[in-house]
Amino acid sequence: MNGSSPLLAVQEVTLTFKNVAALSRVSCSVQKGSITSLIGPNGAGKTSMLNCISGRYTPTKGTIRMGDRELSGVPAHKRTSFGLARTFQNIALFRGLSVLDNLMVGRHSRLDYGLLASIFYLGKARAEEDRHRLRVEEIIDFLNLSPYRHQIAGHLPYGVQKKVELGRALAAEPELLLLDEPMAGMNLEETEDMARSILDINEEWGVTVFLVEHDMGVVMDLSDHVIVLDFGRVLASGTPEAIQNNPKVISAYLGDDDALYKGR
Ligand SMILES: Nc1ncnc2c1ncn2[C@@H]1O[C@H](COP(=O)(O)OP(=O)(O)OP(=O)(O)O)[C@@H](O)[C@H]1O
Ligand SMILES: [Mg+2]
Repeated sequence: MNGSSPLLAVQEVTLTFKNVAALSRVSCSVQKGSITSLIGPNGAGKTSMLNCISGRYTPTKGTIRMGDRELSGVPAHKRTSFGLARTFQNIALFRGLSVLDNLMVGRHSRLDYGLLASIFYLGKARAEEDRHRLRVEEIIDFLNLSPYRHQIAGHLPYGVQKKVELGRALAAEPELLLLDEPMAGMNLEETEDMARSILDINEEWGVTVFLVEHDMGVVMDLSDHVIVLDFGRVLASGTPEAIQNNPKVISAYLGDDDALYKGR
């Protein structure tokens, strides 16, 4: 990890809804090449943070930089072309499209011609289609989704749909991948499979990962760095070991402290 130049730098971000401060002067960073996790009790502001980074929410105050670029004012769809992609806490797939087409949509989200053209092979899209399709097939193989390639996404088991969503985000070839609870609702086998995929994406493809996850076993296993939010503020930030032994973190999780130690 390069300690001197974070890929993502969040500075003093505040996000206020009518009478709720979802985030209060949050500063944190994600080092290039790392897996950095954002944890915290329910309602701590984790999804709000991802929404500010991806452009779905506009911070009331503060700045977010990716590399040299200030993201404020850049619409969400443009952030994809800056190398940012995400998955959602609740699955957000095109349920009526095949696995392959869902990934093609993810692929084309960073290109300059239309989605319809890309799906129906019209105009200049046709020439590039095979190249993109090859890359998408590579991702499908990488994530072991080959058996589902032509199946309709909405008909697949939940754990497979979560992986398709990961594939869709990956198809945009992000430099920074934001994952909001990718293991939520999964059984042990699916969780281990997803964890393996995230590690491989990071190690083999060099993608920096910013992970929101409640499964502490996964967080402690995968992360280079952990940031803890509580009531919209940064409570602690450090290595998994430091976080596990931090009294403030332990007390924030009191009542749920088994989760912090045992992962489930
Ligand atoms: N669109 C919104 N409008 C109003 N309040 C919101 C909105 N989005 C989030 N909040 C509030 O902001 C706070 C943080 O919510 P957020 O969803 O970011 O928490 P979280 O850490 O992701 O929780 P969880 O672990 O349950 O997913 C909560 O009090 C929530 O009710
Ligand atoms: Mg959330």
